[in-house]
Amino acid sequence: MNFTEAKLLVGKLTAELNEHNHKYYVLDKPEISDYDFDKLLEQLISIENEFPELLSPNSPSQRVGGAVTKEFKTVKHKYAMLSLGNTYNENELRDFDERIKKAGLNAYEYVSELKYDGVSISLTYVNGELRQAVTRGDGEQGDDVTTNVKTIKSIPLKLSGNYPQEFEIRGEIFMPKNVFLKINEGIRKQMEEDGFGEEEIFEKLLKNPRNAASGTLKMQDSKTVASRNLDCYLYSLLGEKLPFQSHYENLTAAKSWGFKVSPHMEKLNFIDDVISYNEKWETARHQLNVETDGVVIKVNNYEHQKFLGFTAKSPRWAIAYKYKAASASTVLDFVSFQVGRTGAITPVANLKPVFLAGTTVKRASLHNADIIEKLDLHEGDTVFVEKGGEIIPKITAVDLTKRKPGVSKIIYISHCPECNTGLVRKESEAIHYCPNEYGCPPQIIGNMAHFISRKAMNIDSLGEETIVQLYDAGLIKNCADIYDLKKEQLVGLERMGEKSADNLIAGVEQSKTIPFERVLYALGIRHIGETTAKKIAYSYKNIDAVMNATAENLLSVGDVGEVIAQSVVNFFSVEKNRKLIERLKAKGLKFELSADALANTSEKLKDKTFVVSGVFSKFSRDDLKKAIEVNGGKISGSISGKTSYVVAGENMGPEKLKKAEKLNVKIISEDDFIKMIE
Ligand code: IVH
Repeated sequence: MNFTEAKLLVGKLTAELNEHNHKYYVLDKPEISDYDFDKLLEQLISIENEFPELLSPNSPSQRVGGAVTKEFKTVKHKYAMLSLGNTYNENELRDFDERIKKAGLNAYEYVSELKYDGVSISLTYVNGELRQAVTRGDGEQGDDVTTNVKTIKSIPLKLSGNYPQEFEIRGEIFMPKNVFLKINEGIRKQMEEDGFGEEEIFEKLLKNPRNAASGTLKMQDSKTVASRNLDCYLYSLLGEKLPFQSHYENLTAAKSWGFKVSPHMEKLNFIDDVISYNEKWETARHQLNVETDGVVIKVNNYEHQKFLGFTAKSPRWAIAYKYKAASASTVLDFVSFQVGRTGAITPVANLKPVFLAGTTVKRASLHNADIIEKLDLHEGDTVFVEKGGEIIPKITAVDLTKRKPGVSKIIYISHCPECNTGLVRKESEAIHYCPNEYGCPPQIIGNMAHFISRKAMNIDSLGEETIVQLYDAGLIKNCADIYDLKKEQLVGLERMGEKSADNLIAGVEQSKTIPFERVLYALGIRHIGETTAKKIAYSYKNIDAVMNATAENLLSVGDVGEVIAQSVVNFFSVEKNRKLIERLKAKGLKFELSADALANTSEKLKDKTFVVSGVFSKFSRDDLKKAIEVNGGKISGSISGKTSYVVAGENMGPEKLKKAEKLNVKIISEDDFIKMIE
């Protein structure tokens, strides 16, 4: 393909991709499959790679992300980004209408829109191309987040139709509810697998969709932003040469240029209609896949808007009507206590089912004993459940007027509901644990379920249900027992035919080829996730070395902190665990790095400790750290007398630089480092 042909094809592919993107993300009417879309995109990317001069800043290829923003530039807004006055009831809204009448306006129209709960954004378009995206900031100036915004598929990079040459359009970037739930589900699942307790998981979960959207927009790596599927509704147009002199008509035009404008915007003539609109959406809003916290009412005509003007902070021609957080009252049936794989106890409130914000709520997590204490929860209490932006319901208070006399307080259990062992609570933690790691059924089963899971030994012929079945039948009590299973023992069991039994045995056999780093992860050592297991495996190369490592020694592995180091040492100090490993070794599981993996490792950096600082061009920070580890080096987070080298990238912190110079530690570049390992 020559340059002219490539240029033509890039133009054609760009137009096609933009159109399909619009159909999928704005109109919700896809015409081609994801597969076909990806094929077109791949084709475009490959031509852009071959002819880099054809890559335009608004190419559809920019939507996948990749660029990293180290620091967001501050940009002054051409038109200040104001906020809105709030109203909370019908009367306040009627007062707003009266003020407009009193100002002397007669024939005015209102536009009612939903108030989306996300982050406001201002987009500038020049000649039909997205030029800049700036956050609200303090209203006067905000952050330039253009690179990240380009990954939001419903925001057009190129417009179509008859748009003004230059204008700004503002709207709300949000994280759809289903995306929010899915991300949290993923975080929870991974952390549970890695042995984190409820309290720690709760800390890491995204708190609500608004928070998640705002955090995502400020991420440095646009690839991560792209993966988080943000969306955007546009609700206001600004500029010198707009096609109409009114809000509704301009937004309708903007829709035809490719923007996603809310389909629920309505032109209304009277305040009574505005109030009906509010009532309609108070419940209907819960069916939407976007969080809303109210309605915005705007005077439609720009002349009227100008006439009404602004107060210091907000327009007089618009106002927000805010919904109260969805809340319901229901009766507490009982509190149950769940035991997790790590022995962490989670108290759960079981409630009389109540309909709240689009779903039926039957249960709410009470998190820990302190929360129960704070609520002063009693048996049979009537409680208020609320769903803010959080989606996960929580009990906010007890309705004391409904408490029956003489009922007793909810007492936190002192013994494990599964094995009756006395619970313990570590000093700094709010969570209770059952310490009977090797005798408490949910902990034993949870450990085995982790062992066979996909990222660990990947024995998919043996699901969690079968684990429970085999445990109940007395056939397995720990991971090593799985390797002793015989076909004859299995066939008699319920739902287990010859074929399933054969499959199960074959799957177990097959798992013996799983590499060392995953076996290490499968052992279920608390706080050892997939990545940490890999790092430890590459540093120590075999299980004996890991077993003999001291906590201090382990700290030199990247990402291993005090808690993890101590957890490893504790695990191997238990006789039962050492025996388990001996048995698994005898069964033929891999307890050392494969020859292939070893070939990629060296001792070139043995006994050298590195500190990594700044941003690199040839490595990501993680890859650089990995390169240090696989070559036998150690990593430390801070510079000390023991540091051998600081690998300095762009933007190395000035404090680190000072310290390195003071302690006479050698500072090397990325290229110097590459030479060391070549
Ligand atoms: S119009 C002059 N329309 O609510 C203010 N704002 O408190 C113009 N918001 O910062 C804003 N949905 O982030 C408008 N349909 C909508 C909205 C909306 C959500 C947010 C926006 C603004 C805040 C105002």
